[in-house]
Amino acid sequence: MKHTKVKDLLNSTKPVDDVTVKGWVRTFRNNQFLAINDGSVIHNIQAVVDFENTPAETLKRLTPSAAVSIKGNLVESQGAGQKFEIQVKELEVLGDSDAEEYPIQLKNRPSLEFLREKAHLRVRTNAFGAIMRVRSVLSFAVHQYFQENGFVYVNTPIITGSDAEGAGEMFRVTSLPAQNPPVTQEGTVNYEEDFFGKETNLTVSGQLEAETYAMALGQVYTFGPTFRAENSNTSRHLAEFWMIEPEVAFNDLDANMDLAEDFIKYVIKYVMERCADDLEFLDKRLADEEKQKPQAERSGMGLLEKLQFVLENNFKRVSYTEAIDILKSSKPNKNKKFQYLIEEWGADLQSEHERFLVEKHFKSPVILFDYPAKIKAFYMRLNDDGKTVRAMDILFPGIGEIVGGSQREERLDVLQQKIAELGIDEKELWWYLDTRRFGTAVHSGFGLGFERLVLFVTGMTNIRDVIPFPRTPQNAEF
Ligand code: 4AD
Ligand code: MG
Repeated sequence: MKHTKVKDLLNSTKPVDDVTVKGWVRTFRNNQFLAINDGSVIHNIQAVVDFENTPAETLKRLTPSAAVSIKGNLVESQGAGQKFEIQVKELEVLGDSDAEEYPIQLKNRPSLEFLREKAHLRVRTNAFGAIMRVRSVLSFAVHQYFQENGFVYVNTPIITGSDAEGAGEMFRVTSLPAQNPPVTQEGTVNYEEDFFGKETNLTVSGQLEAETYAMALGQVYTFGPTFRAENSNTSRHLAEFWMIEPEVAFNDLDANMDLAEDFIKYVIKYVMERCADDLEFLDKRLADEEKQKPQAERSGMGLLEKLQFVLENNFKRVSYTEAIDILKSSKPNKNKKFQYLIEEWGADLQSEHERFLVEKHFKSPVILFDYPAKIKAFYMRLNDDGKTVRAMDILFPGIGEIVGGSQREERLDVLQQKIAELGIDEKELWWYLDTRRFGTAVHSGFGLGFERLVLFVTGMTNIRDVIPFPRTPQNAEF
């Protein structure tokens, strides 16, 4: 049977007779006012139940999260708070939800920590509904941007033999035959068996493969899951996250920065235009959360204000060396919670340093570039000074690093030397080095952590709250 989405009913310009809505009960007040949500929009539709002519048995079943189908007339609402409501003519409970057993009691304002343990049900709350709709629109915006700008979408392998970042933080993939699994005499499964006899892992980045495609198709992008076996229990790291990686032939680092900034602004604008209701809700949610904090820790800017700020201001472009000078001459903050002082050039920046630069010093997104070669991956282009590379990280307020990218080393001999210095076996990268052997050219790209972008856009503070089923060291239950 045809039914109408709540979103369309709420956007109606006039009353409509005989509409059918299917969704889930949020609340049922005074035996009369039923709030139904169907996931199409943050708002519920109010359905006014004719309780005198509805069996008491049915009324009792209108509990939070019960699935219902209602038929009635969409009429202008008498009450404040909504333009339209449905005068119910027929009501059917499609699926009961035991109020005693249902784990999410909205009245008690369940905490985000609690909801993380109920990842399969938390999407039934307003906040998670909004976050996941925003996430969906953002991912569409990513494709829209690149497709409009002539990029080719490339699916890079998930099972791979290479370690793109050289950090060794990988999940190993083994092939375990279904029949006759290689069980040892002690009864333990022997995982020595590798994927078709080769050592393989889940990809940490599609960059190296994307580079080979950029050297034929010109402009490409990937958008897929990536995996890091880093045991970092932070609010910014996941073991499984989605990454967007454009790669462009003939782009130098400046063009790479321009692309990243233009891309980020485009997707933020796109989502602001299409998810106004959800973002307004998340803006209020954040404001409530901020009110609970001591004055000194409040960010001072609302979510929508923050998004607008990013759209309207140029990202500050600052070299690593300048950043170190700024950090060196800055005073540690009063309670010495963070040590801003960095003693020596060459050290990697800690997240406190990044946040100081973005939130306290520049008060703007920052693009840091020309990092020391020693702290960056092997494939970045060496500068003439012989000690820095054409790397860039984009740092965002409240997030820290949101993008990591670089101009790639296109000179075969320089790259070979670097690989040798790092003790990487050149044979492992023969196919990658071929791009430098046959028609090499300047090229650049970057990786944007999709969940970090969703964090920024939704104003959430923990990355586990912006992906449906977070994979972290403690959480693999779902
Ligand atoms: O800086 P990263 O490690 O760079 C690369 O992987 C490059 N190969 C990208 C490229 O140039 N094509 O990762 C890129 C971004 C980070 O800036 C961060 O936003 C995100 O990926 N990221 C993570 N997000 C969530 N959880 C993790 N464990 C992440 N590690 C990186
Ligand atoms: Mg990085």
